[in-house]
Amino acid sequence: STSERVADLLGRMTLEEKAGQLTQYFYFGSFGEAPADIDIDALPPEHRQFVGQPAMVRDAIARGATGSVLFVREARMANVLQRSAVEDTRLGIPLIFGFDVVHGHRTVFPVPIAQAASWDPDAVEESQRTAGREARASGIHWTFAPMVDIGRDPRWGRIVEGAGEDPHLGAAMAAAQVRGFQGSFGPESILAGPKHFAAYGAARGGRDYDEVEVSDSELRNVYLPPFAAAIEAGAANVMSAYMELNGVPASGNRWLLRDVLRDELGFTGFVVSDANAVRSLTAQHFAADLTDAAVRAVTAGLDMEMCMFDPAFASVPEAVRAGLVEESAVDESVTRILAVKFDLGLFESPYANEEAEDAVLAAPEHRDRARAMAESSAVLLKNDGLLPLQLESLGSIAVIGELADSKRDTLGPWVFSHDTDETITIVEGIRARVAGAAEVRSAFGAGIPSRLFASDFDQHDPTVVGTPDDYDDDAAIEQAVALAADSDVAVVVVGQRQNQIGETASSSTLALPGRQLEQLQRIAETGTPVVLLVMSGRPLDLRWPDVHIPSILEIWYPGTRGGDAVAALLFGDVSPAGRLPFTWPRHVGQVPIISSHLRTFQPENQGKRYWDEESTSLYPFGYGLSYATFTYGDVQLERASVEVGETVAVTVDVTNTSDVAADEVAQLYIHQRHGRAARPVRELKGFQRVHLEAGESRTLTFALGPEQLRYWSAADRGWVQDATTIELGVGPSSATALNNVLTITPTAAR
Ligand code: IFM
Repeated sequence: STSERVADLLGRMTLEEKAGQLTQYFYFGSFGEAPADIDIDALPPEHRQFVGQPAMVRDAIARGATGSVLFVREARMANVLQRSAVEDTRLGIPLIFGFDVVHGHRTVFPVPIAQAASWDPDAVEESQRTAGREARASGIHWTFAPMVDIGRDPRWGRIVEGAGEDPHLGAAMAAAQVRGFQGSFGPESILAGPKHFAAYGAARGGRDYDEVEVSDSELRNVYLPPFAAAIEAGAANVMSAYMELNGVPASGNRWLLRDVLRDELGFTGFVVSDANAVRSLTAQHFAADLTDAAVRAVTAGLDMEMCMFDPAFASVPEAVRAGLVEESAVDESVTRILAVKFDLGLFESPYANEEAEDAVLAAPEHRDRARAMAESSAVLLKNDGLLPLQLESLGSIAVIGELADSKRDTLGPWVFSHDTDETITIVEGIRARVAGAAEVRSAFGAGIPSRLFASDFDQHDPTVVGTPDDYDDDAAIEQAVALAADSDVAVVVVGQRQNQIGETASSSTLALPGRQLEQLQRIAETGTPVVLLVMSGRPLDLRWPDVHIPSILEIWYPGTRGGDAVAALLFGDVSPAGRLPFTWPRHVGQVPIISSHLRTFQPENQGKRYWDEESTSLYPFGYGLSYATFTYGDVQLERASVEVGETVAVTVDVTNTSDVAADEVAQLYIHQRHGRAARPVRELKGFQRVHLEAGESRTLTFALGPEQLRYWSAADRGWVQDATTIELGVGPSSATALNNVLTITPTAAR
């Protein structure tokens, strides 16, 4: 059995070999080995440190000083390193290869926030299964995904990697992704590692890595449900976060990693640190030195250290000998990691099949799935009837914007194994769909200024583009406006470049970068009807377009087949049905703003408004329009009154009253009138995405019981369900009225 094999191997290991299994190195050789004659002094300082890093890692592998490697992304390279681990080391323990497979591998799917906007867990599961299949073909065993951090502050760049603001939607997406990536550990799947434990998304000011203060109840009610769902779905790994949670760095936080993660959530897999997060316990002035950092991480229950250079865990043997940490704690971690390696079958078949890799990557059906997901995830924010475009009545179409024809931006952040050339831009997608039936002309228009600071990843990605320094915005805008004036319709793409969102890409503003708004205003003045496409991973300031532009479609970073999907949506081949996974503010000054806020003191009072801006959102959570129209029948409750602990069925008829077949996302919201704590004005408790043909009607059923009604009470320091009155409603967004009442009575004595 696995446990016998682990015990046997563990018994033969030295302390140094054990520490090696707890270490994971980045391997920057994947980005090309440095030539022997490189002039190191000529490199920018931040690049110099990486020269020689691959050789250092290869040496560590051959010495058994590392049990895992990340950032290897092709079978050939994985096998070279694996051969050394298996053949050069005393015990021949194979490496486990991890990587950030976030929204695709070679085939790139829409970014995770977009996938969440599909409100379609089955489709998301299929996307990640596809990504996992491609990654496994490249020799990768494990992904640092899904990112399940709740994101309630759109200034935070990593909001693009998660499922948005809501714990119920977040939990559904977390579980779906774990099922997709990992399933039951087949030869075509990869281990899932939900991250970053925990509450990383609550970074103060939306600044990446900044400290987090959340209450015990907010942690349980908002930030942990997606982790609980991912663990319930079988996730083998969890990544610990960088930041301090209530003052204690997450990666050295014994309460968080043992009491909460293992005892409360029942996690039995292994915990990896975020990159260099153990070392950084010293930078955070938490640990005294690297040995102390290692001791506190191991003691806290962190099993594997992810690092770029010298691991803190190299001092584990010395710390054990000095009595600073129990060897049993080290053995516990080694056991977890060896067990995963045995369960994955790495001892029997450590190598990737190099010959089979190419056939799997970018298989046509994978590209089709990426297109379908891009179609499903777009959110129609406004439509005064301009969409879908009627091709028969159009002689000429202008497609305007830097992002409209940027292959790299169409893919979004967090891609490394893509082939940029294989990407279909918006311009290309529209051209292909129109197929000569109208004239399609494009203009780059206003440039999008570069980031103030280079992204950590830009240096590795030769395809990252920026507006050239000598770019003439004035001339480009004039050209774009003239093109719009001379066309029957203008499709204008605005947004942020892919490296203006993601890790270390927080924004202090939600304004459209550069002169994109000014250009849009000039185009609108021409009188040519405008369709606005928003390419972003966060809400942007659309106050002006919302009033003046007839049709607005959020297309996110739609991936490899993004252009094809957008064209299908524009011309009505498919109706948009995505819904916002976050509340869309009017202005950055309202941030954070969520739809599930408390009712608060004097809820009808105007006093909590800003004097200079509405306090409401521009678009609520769960919002999105369709080319079809749907009506909702009266909500039926199986019983009007149930006891605490009982479950009731909630049913509603949804009818497509239009002549267009389309998907609809029905959403169940509740509000608890009184109880041991004040509860949010509305909470999402169920949703279903259904396809309805023109005129078709469907009865949908939702369960409402203790699972949906319980919450973590600060007063009780535990999960409770109140005897109370629940108001509820089912509709197309969080703006749905909660007109139905369910009475919850105390459990009767029996
Ligand atoms: O997985 C990531 C993590 O989300 C952020 N820091 C780097 C890790 C490895 O790339």
